[in-house]
Amino acid sequence: MNILIIGSGGREHTLAWKLKQSPLCSELFIAPGNAGTAQLGVNVPLATTDFEGLTIFCLENKIEMLIVGPEDPLVKGIYDHFKLNPLTAGIHVIGPSKEASRLEGSKAYAKAFMDRHQIPTAAYREFDATNFEDGISYIKAHSLPIVLKADGLAAGKGVVICTDHAAALLEFEQMIQQAKFGESGKRVVIEQFLDGIELSMFVLTDGKNYVLLPEAKDYKRIGIGDKGLNTGGMGAVSPVPFVDEAYIQKVKKAIIEPTIAGLLAEKLEYKGVVFIGLINVKGEPMVIEYNCRFGDPETEVIIPRIENDLVEIFLATSQQRLDEITIKTSPMAAVTVVAVSGGYPNQYETGKEILGLVDAELTGTIVFHSGSLQDGEKVLTNGGRVLAVTSTGSNITAAAAQSNRVLEKIRFDGIYFRDDIGYEFR
Ligand code: AMP
Ligand code: GLY
Repeated sequence: MNILIIGSGGREHTLAWKLKQSPLCSELFIAPGNAGTAQLGVNVPLATTDFEGLTIFCLENKIEMLIVGPEDPLVKGIYDHFKLNPLTAGIHVIGPSKEASRLEGSKAYAKAFMDRHQIPTAAYREFDATNFEDGISYIKAHSLPIVLKADGLAAGKGVVICTDHAAALLEFEQMIQQAKFGESGKRVVIEQFLDGIELSMFVLTDGKNYVLLPEAKDYKRIGIGDKGLNTGGMGAVSPVPFVDEAYIQKVKKAIIEPTIAGLLAEKLEYKGVVFIGLINVKGEPMVIEYNCRFGDPETEVIIPRIENDLVEIFLATSQQRLDEITIKTSPMAAVTVVAVSGGYPNQYETGKEILGLVDAELTGTIVFHSGSLQDGEKVLTNGGRVLAVTSTGSNITAAAAQSNRVLEKIRFDGIYFRDDIGYEFR
């Protein structure tokens, strides 16, 4: 079948790499894609939220499966757009409906959902302009640190952790009265700080059944040892060594099963990935967020460990047959190390030529592109995160060392990467 992937990052390059291996995949298209995806399929110059353009493209190119990478088109309702049009309703769309995407699109919605289904999460309250004064009193009486979350999508920037009350009050005032994170950010969730190791779990659901994909841990801070500013993700590892069978059973019982049962009970149409961000608090998993899509850079380590045919799995998802699927996971460890542009996550330049890619690919390590652009013969940087270099090995130490060695072969002006990804497990 002909398949269209929406997005342009390392996540989408990884999905393209895996889907292309399936005998069920005929033509593969990526909108808009990057220089990496162009080696596997055809890049289509359409924006991820250009639903009309994407619809016409799908009809003209007989697309049978549409896989949505980023959250933005999902939260804007791409699933419903395709399902409500009789001409495109038969296309297998991998991703949740607009209503179900609110699990990521609105922090307040997600917290209320967890409350309704007794899913363990940090205690919270919700405020906006109508109960602003209550919010002030709530913050003043709250223990520290205190976590403030702008309600709507804020490109990963809407969460602020404050270690003193004055900073929290200022932040609260800026969010509600000055719309620091936009209109939707004028609603604020205030919650208890959870102390523990973070972990990402990926559940693929057809709305009724689910399969668990490999777990991962990502490294969000720019600096060695998890110091400095937050980024989109500087690397990831899978598996996460402390996640054993007993822990997985605990997460299934306390979190995954109530989540899937909740989707079903509330008639939320969901045929896609539920990405559950967890914090492990003294051995007890608690949810810090839901995302309605695959993670980036987590995808770059979980997909290479999955041995099944991904088209088959997605088809079963769309046809509500996930009960027929058993996920086969490689026992190998995978580590991805992200190479970023100098200056990221603050200002950075793009358009720098990337050298050494051919040498790197000869090593057997996979160089996924996160932000790149083909310019004639040259490959240029085209984003903050530029490459995600994934290696597998018998353990995290070996896989990380291999990715770091390969990155030494790659050059572009200003290149930076963390050579300590997975450090606590090495
Ligand atoms: P989110 O956008 O909800 O994923 O939050 C971004 C990041 O903030 C998370 O990856 C955590 O590192 C941190 N975070 C969010 N909520 C909490 C919390 N309640 N306690 C501690 N850290 C949190
Ligand atoms: N790596 C975190 C995310 O994709 O949101």
